[in-house]
Amino acid sequence: MIRLPGLIDPHVHLREPGAVHKEDYDSGTASALAGGVTMVLAMPNTKPPIFDADTLDSVLNSAQQKARCDYAQYVGAGADNATVAAALAPRAAALKMYLDATFGQLRLDDMTLWMEHFMRWPGDTPIVTHSESRSMGAALLMAQMYNKPIHIAHISLREEVLLIKAAKEHGIRVTCEVCPHHLFLSEGGIPLSTSGACCTEGLSGGRAEVRPRLATAQDAAALWENLDVIDCFATDHAPHTVPEKDSENPPPGFPGLESLLPLLLTAVQEGRLTMEQLVEKAVTNPRRIFKLPVQHETWVEVDENAVYELHAAEMHSRCGWTPFEGWKVRGRVTRVVLRGTEAFKDGKILVQPGFGKNVREVDWD
Ligand code: NCD
Ligand code: ZN
Repeated sequence: MIRLPGLIDPHVHLREPGAVHKEDYDSGTASALAGGVTMVLAMPNTKPPIFDADTLDSVLNSAQQKARCDYAQYVGAGADNATVAAALAPRAAALKMYLDATFGQLRLDDMTLWMEHFMRWPGDTPIVTHSESRSMGAALLMAQMYNKPIHIAHISLREEVLLIKAAKEHGIRVTCEVCPHHLFLSEGGIPLSTSGACCTEGLSGGRAEVRPRLATAQDAAALWENLDVIDCFATDHAPHTVPEKDSENPPPGFPGLESLLPLLLTAVQEGRLTMEQLVEKAVTNPRRIFKLPVQHETWVEVDENAVYELHAAEMHSRCGWTPFEGWKVRGRVTRVVLRGTEAFKDGKILVQPGFGKNVREVDWD
């Protein structure tokens, strides 16, 4: 048995408000605990989006009643809320800007709107951008012009990791995250690891849809080769139900909270990652980048020699599927202790909705 600090996932979609049939603060944070994640930062692309004091108050009210692990909630950058969003900064996980097409209605096309947000957001926490390829280049320009920290969400391409590497060398205040699915899957959901030997024909139809899209094996190889440039692991846990994913108009997104640690532990066993890198990118760096508090008496117990298959039927997310169905992994989360309380043991969630705390509340612990 080994003991790890509780993981921090800076990128999850809990679908509250507006789509709680996919997930809510209760099921999503139960899924987090089962995956060894004790703190989640929840995205604002909900219905309605979280973009002013009323929507933030309302989602935090639900979170207070339902969350089982600790959390903070993002505010979204909209077309006319730069001043309002900046005023909410102390209560927000950070600001999220959608600069490319994806699920939800928060996309900003006009770069003068980006400038408003970069000008006004108080730079204690970063501006997190969904910005792919060339829009990432434009977002880096904003960060440099306004001297603000920027965190690039879910990088997937060789050109992205190499541009971030160069931007860091030039002193731009940029950090970034990568998702397991961009490390372990290529286009069409083809596995890039022997763990996925069950599934060499890939994912069918809408199951393979995610933004940023699954990239080439060369792109994934460039991410692995440049792990030192990557600050955080993030799941981009984006649950949609099986009927939705298998429909004619499938929404993009993969659940990921319960496959993150098993996949990373397997990579450690295979020598592709060190345990130090795992802890740095899943705990220490997200805590530093997002200015998150230490969770005292909080840890995850792992049976590092347990070999087993991942199955959605054993997971806690409401979405009912995983892109890693049947994958053979090595390393199982057996027990999670959160702030001194046993929160998960042998497949069972042991804390009630409401146990989780908002880490941006002054008296959170
Ligand atoms: C996300 C979602 O479903 O909310 N989908 C996805 O494919 N990643 C949106 C996002 O993070 O872009
Ligand atoms: Zn996302």
